[in-house]
Amino acid sequence: MEESAAFVEWGPYLSYGKDPAMSMTICWRSQQPTAGGWIKYGIDPDSMQVVKETPGTATHIHVVRLTGLEPATIYQYQISRDKDKTWTFETGLPAGSTKPFEFIINGDMHAYPCNRLDRYFQLMASEAPKHDFYVGLGDFVNDGLNIKHWNSLFYDGKDYLATRPLMNATGNHDTDKKEKYKNYLDAWFHPYVNPVEGAYYLLEYGNAVLFFLDSCNAGRGEPLPADEQYAWLDENLAKYAKQDRWIFLFMHHQIYSTGDFSCPYIMHDVFRPLCQQYHVDAVFYGHDHHYECFWVDRDADWGGTLFFVAGAGCGQHHIDHGIMGDRDGMTKYVWPGRFLNVRKHGVPPPSKNINGLVKGFRNDDLVKECQLFGVLEPNFVHVKIDGDVMELKSIGWQKQVYHHLRVNRTGAGRKWDPGCELAIMDY
Ligand SMILES: [Fe+2]
Ligand SMILES: [Fe+2]
Repeated sequence: MEESAAFVEWGPYLSYGKDPAMSMTICWRSQQPTAGGWIKYGIDPDSMQVVKETPGTATHIHVVRLTGLEPATIYQYQISRDKDKTWTFETGLPAGSTKPFEFIINGDMHAYPCNRLDRYFQLMASEAPKHDFYVGLGDFVNDGLNIKHWNSLFYDGKDYLATRPLMNATGNHDTDKKEKYKNYLDAWFHPYVNPVEGAYYLLEYGNAVLFFLDSCNAGRGEPLPADEQYAWLDENLAKYAKQDRWIFLFMHHQIYSTGDFSCPYIMHDVFRPLCQQYHVDAVFYGHDHHYECFWVDRDADWGGTLFFVAGAGCGQHHIDHGIMGDRDGMTKYVWPGRFLNVRKHGVPPPSKNINGLVKGFRNDDLVKECQLFGVLEPNFVHVKIDGDVMELKSIGWQKQVYHHLRVNRTGAGRKWDPGCELAIMDY
């Protein structure tokens, strides 16, 4: 991305390092290139430590990685660019802890055409005030090559992103080309395993393991994990499946969805066996711009996997952005209204999807068996983990709860509570 006069300040913004309990990465961008940036941080404001940036040439891009922090502890911090301001961050839970924690999820903010995302950040902070971190499912900016779009995101997110870690996954609008991928790596400094192959990584957090996949494969644009990423995923799923932890996958491209991008056969063929083999608890993705929940293999003795479309983070005016509309006549949206509960409404009639039904399915028996609920309104997902209980809510713009699940698990060889759906509003 050109560092031009159009550049504006970003941040500070946060993300966890490799160990969320003991590390924090703090980034910012300056209007003018500078060298010698620093972070001042501490639990007690009267005894702050200073950590300097790695020496280098003057740049707009500033990154300081703090390590050796205390778990689950609130720190104050300042950055060299804004010496008179103080923010706070909180470190995460150590791996293996069974203390409760919370996070929020959404994707597809599409900053720039979607503006006033600050209202969205405020909503997430007010309706889930105790959440520990934010999971982004990609497409945070509409065009990863356009500096205006990045500026818009960081302008709208400046208050929120300074105080809560954002752990992001790549989206096609962010990274479907090599040039976009480069910009992405310059913006999000997550603990990538091998960024040459993809921006994938995992976090051990309390009694959960969180996998962040790069469904664009380092700018190559293919939604399936390429060989190296797949081998890493398979190896680590095998490792953690034996450790009695919640296993969550986060990625951009959808597996099950009745939105315009539908259920691609190839994603179903690859991910369903992985989830079955390693008893993955839930998979969250965006790309389609709505909320939808599927419970697949729910009758299996290990309880099955929940799949969520959580791509309705499109700001208040933009839920129909592209994906849910007519798409220049290529597709007609098939839901009966703004809500879809196939048990109540029945399966919508078949219709062409954006791929002309060549690569995906949408309204077949699997969807009929497994879909719990869908909603075509802006919303975010709030997840609370407390031991073996997961409580999940899809929360809309007017603070309404569209979907509310509570899932119990009982360890490796888990079995979920078949009565887990606390409430589905009567749509
Ligand atoms: Fe999107
Ligand atoms: Fe997308």
